[in-house]
Amino acid sequence: MVPSVRIAPSILSADFARLGEEVRAIDEAGADWIHVDVMDGHFVPNLTIGPMVVKALRPHSAKVFDVHLMISPVDSFLDAFAEAGADILTVHPEAGAHTHRTVQRIKGLGKKAGISLNPATPAKMLDYLIDDIDLVLVMSVNPGFGGQSFIESQLRKIEAVRKMIDKTGREIALEVDGGIDATTAPRAIAAGADVLVAGTATFRGGPGAYAANIARLRGA
Ligand code: DX5
Ligand code: ZN
Repeated sequence: MVPSVRIAPSILSADFARLGEEVRAIDEAGADWIHVDVMDGHFVPNLTIGPMVVKALRPHSAKVFDVHLMISPVDSFLDAFAEAGADILTVHPEAGAHTHRTVQRIKGLGKKAGISLNPATPAKMLDYLIDDIDLVLVMSVNPGFGGQSFIESQLRKIEAVRKMIDKTGREIALEVDGGIDATTAPRAIAAGADVLVAGTATFRGGPGAYAANIARLRGA
């Protein structure tokens, strides 16, 4: 059974000069989680924010900080992001040689562990991880930038991951990230997603529009 949909605005599309205010604004506008995209200019072709920024943002919202780590190697930064106040730490299996160990480390830090699948990465990658994780993040764009178009083939992957999750009988979030708007959101939900990441579609129109933007995605 798919529980009600949660919306996780990606602050990648926020005004970085006013990041604290932006986090407060999306919190008040009804965001369920705050999605933080961490990029290293190496695993993905863009450079964003580190643990110090996560720590600085932490007092601005009590909502779940959903930290998407697009960095390699990733293991050496897990402790820093946990200490900075992340609630969920999501990693890409390609970002380290020992993903199982990485997941155990995240759980050892008392955090929820997520696995993110790039568009070319098969759902099968989850076979020996699914029993240990709390979240699967299906990338519906190639990671690195906001504002890209939704890759259709990922709907099939969402369906496949939904089946795997339901088979476990455990509560595992199925999150989709990239190109989510009022058109693609209902399709991702129909395929089985229950958390929608949205950067462009949340921050479009400035702070006055955030509540309506989030409500539109939720209603989708
Ligand atoms: C892409 C990031 C996404 C991105 C989504 O690498 O992981 O979270 O911000 O942006 P939109 O919603 O604009 O596609
Ligand atoms: Zn992301």
